[in-house]
Amino acid sequence: MNTILRTSTLAPGIHDLHVQSPRIARKCRPGQFLMLRLYEGGERIPLTIADSDPVEGWLRLIVQTVGRTTRELVLLKPGEKILDLAGPLGHPTEIAFRGTVVCVAGGIGAAPILPIARALKAVGNRVIVILGARNAAQMILQKELELCSDRLLLCSDDGSAGLPGQVTAVLEPMLRSDSRPDQVLAIGPVAMMAAVSEMTRALAIPTIVSLNATMVDGTGMCGGCRVSIGSTTRFVCVDGPEFDGHLVDFHELQNRQHAYSRQEQQAMEQPHRCRLERTESALLRDEHRRTPA
Ligand SMILES: Cc1cc2nc3c(=O)[nH]c(=O)nc-3n(C[C@H](O)[C@H](O)[C@H](O)COP(=O)(O)OP(=O)(O)OC[C@H]3O[C@@H](n4cnc5c(N)ncnc54)[C@H](O)[C@@H]3O)c2cc1C
Ligand code: FES
Repeated sequence: MNTILRTSTLAPGIHDLHVQSPRIARKCRPGQFLMLRLYEGGERIPLTIADSDPVEGWLRLIVQTVGRTTRELVLLKPGEKILDLAGPLGHPTEIAFRGTVVCVAGGIGAAPILPIARALKAVGNRVIVILGARNAAQMILQKELELCSDRLLLCSDDGSAGLPGQVTAVLEPMLRSDSRPDQVLAIGPVAMMAAVSEMTRALAIPTIVSLNATMVDGTGMCGGCRVSIGSTTRFVCVDGPEFDGHLVDFHELQNRQHAYSRQEQQAMEQPHRCRLERTESALLRDEHRRTPA
């Protein structure tokens, strides 16, 4: 269980991992995620289930290395194991026929968009995907998204892939055209989801966003992932991760994402100490305490 089957690199700092996990693979649906813990005492982090095979029993995780746990995760080799995978968590995306759905993916947001776009297409929607990245080298899943959409539009901040500019520049004319979408789904950086929601609010186009709040336990107990949705407080792990973009307090979410910056920095700076080493020093300390002076 939880054995790494294969790994590859999709772009600098973005890795593709297939992990054996038959129980989760049997149950998961588009939009869901899991909580991962690499080893005893390690931090728990949420990752989207980007794909799965219920028959072969594997999950696909697409991981951007940003801090300590993601860096340690992508160093694992085929045959090595992840201690804990808890999931599937979160509500699956509501997959229904809406007409034309525009899926807006920013950066690593392409990973959660992929299974959702596939499922929306499978029930007959006209699916348009807008895929944005900083540059051509950072653009991921282009071929797979092309296969499951009616139209794929690329854009990059520096113009090295697709149209120059951000996803909102590509979305804007689409919203104002005669064939304006019946629904928009945006997944990516908070600022991007906020900008997309602001654009669609004025035109009353239903917009779903998937919130990447910082999570601690993933069970609704710690309150770490709380967000304000309209006048209510919600927990992304158990009430989300998807919410109505027109109701999200993005400003608060952005502020809360930096709540643990100091601890994250410290975790990156500390050299890894293996648990055995710690146990050994704890034993020595206990022995020292027991020894009469
Ligand atoms: C529901 C959900 C699904 C996610 N799916 C994916 C996925 O499929 N692939 C993927 O690469 N990442 C995903 N993330 C983000 C991922 O959980 C974080 O990148 C990870 O927790 C960082 O852990 P770390 O120890 O490597 O970095 P840390 O040291 O904890 O953080 C380093 C930096 O990363 C940023 N960061 C930390 N947590 C988050 C977060 N939750 N969202 C965005 N930025 C964060 C912060 O700016 C922080 O300074 C998801 C997050 C959520 C909530
Ligand atoms: S992560 Fe603890 S309440 Fe959601």
